[in-house]
Amino acid sequence: MVRLTIDGREVEVEEHTTILDAARTAGVNIPTLCYLRDINEIGSCRVCAVEVEGIDQLVASCNNCVLDGMVVRTNSPKARAARKVNVELLLSRHKTACTSCVRSGNCTLQELANDLNIYYLDYAEHVPFVHWDKTYPLIRENHKCIDCMRCVQVCDKVQASRIWDATSRSTHRTVNVVGGRSFDDVDCTYCGQCITHCPMTPSACSGLWPIPTSRRSCRWPPPYARPGATSSASGQTRARWAGSSLRCGPWVSTTS
Ligand code: FES
Repeated sequence: MVRLTIDGREVEVEEHTTILDAARTAGVNIPTLCYLRDINEIGSCRVCAVEVEGIDQLVASCNNCVLDGMVVRTNSPKARAARKVNVELLLSRHKTACTSCVRSGNCTLQELANDLNIYYLDYAEHVPFVHWDKTYPLIRENHKCIDCMRCVQVCDKVQASRIWDATSRSTHRTVNVVGGRSFDDVDCTYCGQCITHCPMTPSACSGLWPIPTSRRSCRWPPPYARPGATSSASGQTRARWAGSSLRCGPWVSTTS
């Protein structure tokens, strides 16, 4: 077992426990954004940064383990300042049109910005735009994506589908359909896991959201209803889109 102090509270946890989990055990809340236990522990957003006595740099609590005798401060001025800068930088790449966003009021990024009293940005905004055909039953708004990679990882590791991937590098990095392919060319089953795990959701703001029922058209029936649908080894229905205008239940527009 390892004993450490977090925000003045002594806690004993098992070896190889992350600082984040130890803090939760001690009843201390550390905000997270990109973290998804066992699925996405890449430490990319740095929102969970904490101060550890004896270490100059701040440490990402979600992917660093505890050490015996560690003294951690999760809410020190230094940690809060860094957290604020990190969220401001994420916001500088995010279209902050919250009043017209379907996830407003239900968005972790928005919640974090409010908690950190971010009312204006000190950084120049650079909001990348990638065209997305809005007739698909799944809409991806790249200008809201914060590159947390949760959708990529859950699609790959849990659904074994690998529809999404990171494209480009450095500041041009963004998430898009794997291999730069068109969404027409991948076997997405519309399971919705990418949407559910996008941090702009109840659990964790969003680049991905399902199109409202009233706006759904039949151009993109779900795979199981598409002509030429086939079953994969995992039992999930896969399909080959044959370009037919076949009409099918749940995706029929109710307005026209
Ligand atoms: Fe720890 Fe994103 S939650 S780095």
